[in-house]
Amino acid sequence: MDKNEEKQREEEREQVVSPWEVSSSGKIDYDKLIDKFGCQRLDQSLVDRVQRLTGRPPHVFLRRGVFFAHRDLNDILDAYEKGEKFYLYTGRGPSSEALHLGHLVPFMFTKYLQDAFKVPLVIQLTDDEKCMWKNLSVEESQRLARENAKDIIACGFDVTKTFIFSDFDYVGGHILSYIFYLVLVLPKIMRKFPLQCLLQEHGEGCEVVGIFGFTGEDHIGKVSFPPVQAVPSFPSSFPHLFSGKDHLRCLIPCAIDQDPYFRMTRDVAPRIGYHKPALIESSFFPALQGETGKMSASDPNSAIYVTDSAKAIKNKINKYAFSGGQESVELHRKLGANLEEYGAGGMLTGEVKQRLAKVLTELVERHQVARAAVTDEMVDAFMAVRPLPNMFD
Ligand code: TYM
Ligand code: TRP
Repeated sequence: MDKNEEKQREEEREQVVSPWEVSSSGKIDYDKLIDKFGCQRLDQSLVDRVQRLTGRPPHVFLRRGVFFAHRDLNDILDAYEKGEKFYLYTGRGPSSEALHLGHLVPFMFTKYLQDAFKVPLVIQLTDDEKCMWKNLSVEESQRLARENAKDIIACGFDVTKTFIFSDFDYVGGHILSYIFYLVLVLPKIMRKFPLQCLLQEHGEGCEVVGIFGFTGEDHIGKVSFPPVQAVPSFPSSFPHLFSGKDHLRCLIPCAIDQDPYFRMTRDVAPRIGYHKPALIESSFFPALQGETGKMSASDPNSAIYVTDSAKAIKNKINKYAFSGGQESVELHRKLGANLEEYGAGGMLTGEVKQRLAKVLTELVERHQVARAAVTDEMVDAFMAVRPLPNMFD
C-alpha cells in the first residue's frame, strides 16, 4: 500500500456515511463527502435560480445551506424552465413508532418543493426493508408504516398531488409493477452487479460492495433491497399516475446518507431507457451528542421524537446535548464555548440549552397538533392506488 492509499484508508476509517451508519471521529466533513460521492455543491447561484423559477423566497433549508449537495438539479431546472414538469420521490424506512426531528428535514423540504414547483410526489414506505433489517414481523412493519404515514401527512402534503405507498402493499401487491420489477429491472441490475462478487474476500472491483460496503457476511436480503428503493425513480413504476410519460424526470430530496442507492440507480437508468433521477441532498440534523453523528432512531438518546413531551425534550437536552461548555463558569466566560455559534462565550450552556428546548418544543407541539388531525381515512386516501388528475396544476 502506498502512502496515498494508506491516507485514504485512514480517512475512510475516520468518517463513515452510508444508509446504515453515520459516524466520524470529528465533525462530519461534508466537503469531503461531496468529493468522495462525486455529487455537486448546491451553490448560491442555484438557490437564486430556484427563487427565480418558482417566484417565491427559497426555503430556510436552502438559505442556510442545510440542503448542500445535488446531482443534476440544473438539468431538472433547465427542463422546468422550458415548461417540462417533473415528479418528486422520497421515502422513509419505518423502523420506529414515530419520526424524529432528523426525519422531518426532508419531508418539510419536500412539502415546500411540491408547493413551489406544483408537481406530484410519491413517498415510499420501505416496510420490507425494516422487516429484513430490524427483524420486525411483517404485521409490525406494516403497522409502523401506517403510523409513520400519519407523521408524514402532518407535514401538510396535498392529497391531490401525493401518493404514499408501502412496499408490501404496492410493490408486492401490484402485479404489473412487480413483473416490471422482476423482469426488467432486477436482471439488469444484477447483471451489472453480479452476486458472486460478494463472495470475493475483499470485494475489490465489485460495485455493489464498493457502493454499499456489503461483505460476504451480509445476508441476501441486503443485496436484493437496493433495486426496491431504485424503481420508484422511474415513472413506469406508477402506471396509474404516469402511464405514457416514460420520460418524466424525477427529483429526489433526501439526506446524503441515501446517496449510495441513487448512485447505483443513476448508473443503471440510461441502460434501461430512463432519465437519471436528480437529487437534492441535506446534511444531518446532528445527534444530541454532537456533530460527529446523525440523529438516529437506532440510538433513542441521540434523538428527539415528534411524540416527545415538552418535559422529555427538556430532560433529553439537559442530559445528553453537547453544548461545548467549558469546565467552570469562569473558564467558560474566559474561553467561550467549544462551538462556533456560541464561540463568543456570551451565553452559558444552560442558556443555550434552554433556548434549544424552546425552539424544538414549539416545533414538536405544532407537529403534534397537525398529527392529531390526521385520521385513518386520510391515510387510506393518500395510499389509495388512484390517478391524480390535477397533479401538475
Ligand atoms: P430513513 O427512514 O432512515 O430516513 C427518512 C429520511 O430522513 C432522512 N434522515 C435525516 N435527515 C436529516 N437528519 C437526520 N438526522 C436524518 N436521519 C434520516 C433520510 O436521509 C431519509 O431521506 N431507505 C430509506 C427510505 C427510502 C427513501 C427513499 C429515502 C426509500 N426510498 C427515497 C429517501 C428517498 C430509509 O430508511 O430512510
Ligand atoms: N448549520 C445548520 C444551520 O445553521 C444546522 C444544521 C445542519 C441543520 N444540518 C442540519 C439543521 C439539518 C436542520 C437539519 O441551520
